[in-house]
Amino acid sequence: MNETRPESMSAFWMPFTNNRDFKANPRLLVSAEGMYYKDVDGNAILDGTAGLWCVPCGHAQPQIVGAIREMVGQLDFAPTFQMGHPAAFDLAEKLMDYTGHKFGHVFYTNSGSEAVDTALKIALAYHRVRGEGARTRLIGRERGYHGVGFGGISVGGIGGNRKTFGPLLPGVDHLPHTHNLDKNAYTVGEPEYGTHLADELERIVALHDASTIAAVIVEPVAGSTGVLIPPKGYLKRLRELCTKHGILLIFDEVITGFGRMTTPFAADYFDVEPDLMTTAKGLTNGMVPMGAVFSKKYIHDAFMDAPPGIELFHGYTYSGHPLACAASLATLQVFEEQDILGHAKNMQAYWQDAVHSLKGLPHVIDLRSIGLIAGIELDPIAGKPGTRAFNAFKQAFADGVLIRTTGDIIALSPLRRRRADTHDGRHHRPVATAGAGKTACRRAVRQAGHGIKESRLNYKPRKTRGRTLRGYASQWDAYQSLRDRPRRLIRV
Ligand SMILES: Cc1ncc(COP(=O)(O)O)c(C=O)c1O
Repeated sequence: MNETRPESMSAFWMPFTNNRDFKANPRLLVSAEGMYYKDVDGNAILDGTAGLWCVPCGHAQPQIVGAIREMVGQLDFAPTFQMGHPAAFDLAEKLMDYTGHKFGHVFYTNSGSEAVDTALKIALAYHRVRGEGARTRLIGRERGYHGVGFGGISVGGIGGNRKTFGPLLPGVDHLPHTHNLDKNAYTVGEPEYGTHLADELERIVALHDASTIAAVIVEPVAGSTGVLIPPKGYLKRLRELCTKHGILLIFDEVITGFGRMTTPFAADYFDVEPDLMTTAKGLTNGMVPMGAVFSKKYIHDAFMDAPPGIELFHGYTYSGHPLACAASLATLQVFEEQDILGHAKNMQAYWQDAVHSLKGLPHVIDLRSIGLIAGIELDPIAGKPGTRAFNAFKQAFADGVLIRTTGDIIALSPLRRRRADTHDGRHHRPVATAGAGKTACRRAVRQAGHGIKESRLNYKPRKTRGRTLRGYASQWDAYQSLRDRPRRLIRV
């Protein structure tokens, strides 16, 4: 496998990466199937992150791969400016079905960042087309992540993503974030404390006047800043206030869409209907870049009532790319045929139990979970924020499990593959991620907690194929059997 190692790693300026550290000790993935990556040395790496929250149906899902292959041979590219192709329209209808017809229309983009900027522009243009052009302010939230476009970083609430890029969009304000470890540590599901923080919108309205505010945008569960779960009733309250003041509510569901919460979208989970909703990632099972903005019918209709002509001066060359449409249509089919949502619901309790069983490990200061998302917050090393979790990330990778870290928080988001994975000829339980993630996290957190030396973390991963994965699988079986099954399930 070594021959696939790149000759030089200098030219690729890697995104959101410590380039110098990575290039000194690279982690190179060369293939993926089911729940596993394989690295350049042939080690199997169990994917505890669903490929950066992208891959709900598993890697290399054959139906989706087949659909993309077929489409590229038939229609490699087709513009959607004053033109069209059937798959783009078919997909839009199918997506409306998937949302339960809570939305009437969909606008295609190529990423989550583009979906966010598109939603913000639609919000501004919607008010203008209705004669309320003074509504230009956009309200985001501290610790929100909405991608990296200028719109997204303006409404986003991550200092590091904003500080080097100038004044950003004018007229943006932020709600406070809702994360509070003093009140809500070790919560399963929505925390009790913090609903009142939605009322901060009233303060912002009092300051600027509702007539100047176009939209509020939030992630229903903030993913990128470490799994921040909304307090009970918070999103409903935000909805009430937006309705009261004629402000559009945008849910950024780039992470929470496509079953991450066990429901089609987090909006369904929390039973709150936004006016606009952004998505990406799971939309195509991560296989072809695509994002989308879902719009309520009344927003779209306001544009259609305008004088004849192009209704919205916005779009991307690749909006509705045929390969993305084919991937997304196949993804929706797999969701239905394999009952991916039902499977997610079945996994939820196992998953959350596994996560919360990490309580008491050194330096773990919070465990939180909702749907198939979990956050493990670690006590930062004094003067070195983020180092403890990043060490855990490196250690877990060396142990054959991919986790994701942000600051000193480990974020986990397992795959929801229905079929057993057979990469080593065994039938692993589809819930193995939870068990393996738990085992790896336990080890990683413990070692990171004991201040393991950097040099140790840079050692080459040992071959994990076979022994370790079997170990993980049998540990999971043991764990599960302890909970609800007799001994026969233990395969040691
Ligand atoms: C909530 C949210 N919005 C937007 C984005 C940006 O998506 P992309 O990286 O596809 O531009 C992300 C990415 O993780 C996200 O989590």
